[in-house]
Amino acid sequence: MKKPSIIPYGHQTIRNDDIAEVVKVLKSNYLTQGPKVKEFEQNLADYCGRKYAVVFSSGTAALEAAYYAAGIGAGDEIITTPLTFAATSNMILARGAKPVFVDIDSSTGNLDPKEFEKKINKKTKSLVVVDYAGMPADLNLFKEICNKNNLVFIEDSSHALGASFEGKKVGAIADMTIFSFHPVKSITTGEGGAVITGKKDYYERLVLFRSHGIIKDKKKFFSKSPAEWYHEMQDIGFNFRLSDICAALGVSQMRKLDKFIAKRKLIAKRYKKELSGLKNFILPKDISGRESSWHLFVLRIIPLKKHLRNFVFTKLQNKGIGVQVHYLPVYLHPYYQMLGYKKNLCPKAEFFAESEISIPIFPTLSFRNQSLIIKTLKEIDKML
Ligand SMILES: Cc1ncc(COP(=O)(O)O)c(C=O)c1O
Repeated sequence: MKKPSIIPYGHQTIRNDDIAEVVKVLKSNYLTQGPKVKEFEQNLADYCGRKYAVVFSSGTAALEAAYYAAGIGAGDEIITTPLTFAATSNMILARGAKPVFVDIDSSTGNLDPKEFEKKINKKTKSLVVVDYAGMPADLNLFKEICNKNNLVFIEDSSHALGASFEGKKVGAIADMTIFSFHPVKSITTGEGGAVITGKKDYYERLVLFRSHGIIKDKKKFFSKSPAEWYHEMQDIGFNFRLSDICAALGVSQMRKLDKFIAKRKLIAKRYKKELSGLKNFILPKDISGRESSWHLFVLRIIPLKKHLRNFVFTKLQNKGIGVQVHYLPVYLHPYYQMLGYKKNLCPKAEFFAESEISIPIFPTLSFRNQSLIIKTLKEIDKML
């Protein structure tokens, strides 16, 4: 029997106008760092209501750059959430620092501010929160605690471009906010990422790190009498640049960002309405003053039936519905276990992960496929 084609859990939306913008760059003089990179950066900064945006070759590169800009290094402890993609904490390790995992608030999947405050000590340098599934974390409270304890507040908002917190777009609040432009995210550049900040010092360090630690601005050279051709490497950096080809796609996608988010919201609203009668599933909750970007639509099986999560997962997949689990708590990966992190470190995150399933949500998910997903979930609910 022919297997049904799978409805993906997330998908990019690329139209002819996006393609035309990319082709224009391919016919121009600049393939890498040209005018489109600058334009994309300006668009992102304006959208978030912040002074600076620096784009990178991926969200992972953007994370490492932000950690570098914050001065994170050996001996530092960085508090973060285990309920995230590994890159959030991997890049802490890449800077030679130690990720300290703190438990989540089970009602949102976001890091719990009370747990965070308890773990701050003399070695703590920074906090990295994740806006899980697109719902902003408690940004004002985290900012207040960070300010009180002199910590750099970093927000991994890879899921949440376009979300808002008390009327401000994410990107407007933390010391540095990271976005990813991977195809399943709010907008895409293929691969790509960005850091948003209001601080010139961070901005300059981000730019330095992106391009080999090399400076071309004569005023900033250590050398006192440089020749005309001279440029200076002042620190170790990488080639983490985004090309103008990708940035052109980013500029085009930014024009549609609000429409994409509105589409996601509409699907989430329908799911919530139609699935509210399910007996065995917990639906994502709304939080007053916060608007999610609906990167993921997260269902959780009620605690009593948690052991049936894999059964539900397989049932959905067999119907051609692409589902995912977000996430195995990072410290349960073998690499982190080898580093000495132990099971039960964050029991709520582990419990959340064992009961979680993300169902498809993306702007072009058809009404028909939404109906199939709803109908299938209702059928499964009756079997549990
Ligand atoms: C929370 C989070 N952080 C970081 C990343 C890494 O982004 P990228 O894939 O653009 O490197 C992702 C990507 O899935 C993510 O979901």
